[in-house]
Amino acid sequence: MTQEILLTGRVLSFTSTPFEAAPEAAARLDEALVIRDGRIAALGTASDLAAAHPQALRHDHGARVILAGFIDPHVHFPQTAMIASWGKRLIDWLNSYTFPEEMRFADPAYAARIAARYLDLTTAAGTTTMCSFCTIHPASVEAFFAEAQARGQRVVAGKTCMDRNAPERLRDTAQSAYDDSKALLEKWHAVDRISYAITPRFSPTSSPEQLEAMGALWAEHPDCLMQTHLSEQTDEIAWVKELFPQARDYLDTYEQFGLLGQNGLYGHAIHLEPRERDRLREVGAALVHCPTSNTFIGSGLFDMAGLMAEGQRIGLATDTGGGSSFSMLRTMAAAYEIGQLRHTPLHPAQLIWLATVGSAQALRMEDRIGNIAPGMEADLVLLDLASTPAIAQREAEAEDLWEAIFPTIMMGDDRAVAEVWIGGRRVKS
Ligand code: GUN
Ligand code: ZN
Repeated sequence: MTQEILLTGRVLSFTSTPFEAAPEAAARLDEALVIRDGRIAALGTASDLAAAHPQALRHDHGARVILAGFIDPHVHFPQTAMIASWGKRLIDWLNSYTFPEEMRFADPAYAARIAARYLDLTTAAGTTTMCSFCTIHPASVEAFFAEAQARGQRVVAGKTCMDRNAPERLRDTAQSAYDDSKALLEKWHAVDRISYAITPRFSPTSSPEQLEAMGALWAEHPDCLMQTHLSEQTDEIAWVKELFPQARDYLDTYEQFGLLGQNGLYGHAIHLEPRERDRLREVGAALVHCPTSNTFIGSGLFDMAGLMAEGQRIGLATDTGGGSSFSMLRTMAAAYEIGQLRHTPLHPAQLIWLATVGSAQALRMEDRIGNIAPGMEADLVLLDLASTPAIAQREAEAEDLWEAIFPTIMMGDDRAVAEVWIGGRRVKS
């Protein structure tokens, strides 16, 4: 048997969803956990676990909060080097900043360099799993998976497919998108902790023929996730109407080509029609809220309270680099602010749940990651709730755990992330 590890601290996990009853009641607090063979072996009091696991190597973390590692279900790792680009709305932002940067991924060495940089930055921020768009270049997918595999990380990604309304050097075809995606899927899907996601960028950059080819590939591999964008900005939606005059709405441009399903991930989903909401809920698809992106690109205010109340499956994501951060703490803060603007503030338990369990559910991986319980993979983040003088002085006034955590959610960054563990190995200390 491999060396067991005993971590003590304030271990926070979830036993139910904080959107259904009193948010606090969904959480469970323990003093300690045991890691064995890369998984959580036990959860309980420090004295019980120390007695039951006398050989375990013990790390005491005092008042640090131990959470499941953060999960970011919608990112573009190739946008790492152009994050925080000024002053454009979605379509101009794509043309001015995103597409020129994505062209650089024709160079496999550049793709490898950015994959490593992106995973360094997100590990520092406490994110242990993400679902990423790559570029149209298969080498960008190879680079991302190879780097994640070397680090033992659970990741999802796919080749971004575009065959129109993009620069010539960023266009594939319906056939090459199908062939390249299929080859990557067959090589990487379910290898170690890696999963492949079929990835049409969004309906404006795919011809009907390409959407149909992606739908056919998904029908052949229904266990794969399919990721795309949906109803992010009003002018984007108007453009989709022009491009697909027969479609009932934006979602229908996916639905009619077999690209609506329970393993579908739809990023943004801000300006939804009633029919779209009904269909998304009926099939159990996942919506991914990207709050720093929605404020940064000026897209709109996601209806978290309404969508949760009607029973949608929802994850929380950075959307790096349309999103202005690599940090899920900063992303929770932005989700809180959007909730406030809609007069439906989110409780800290709801914010943490969204960044862990909720995002794991969006990826259909809640049986493996996103929570701390026996049998779950040992991906963990240890938070220091007094990481800066400004946060520490506020935390010192707190009367309960939620009041103590909230300043770190609102004001924290990678300095609050004291340690990160991936697959039972410490990767940041
Ligand atoms: N819609 C299509 N592509 C993108 C992208 O790269 N970022 C965002 N935010 N929206 C998109
Ligand atoms: Zn995106």
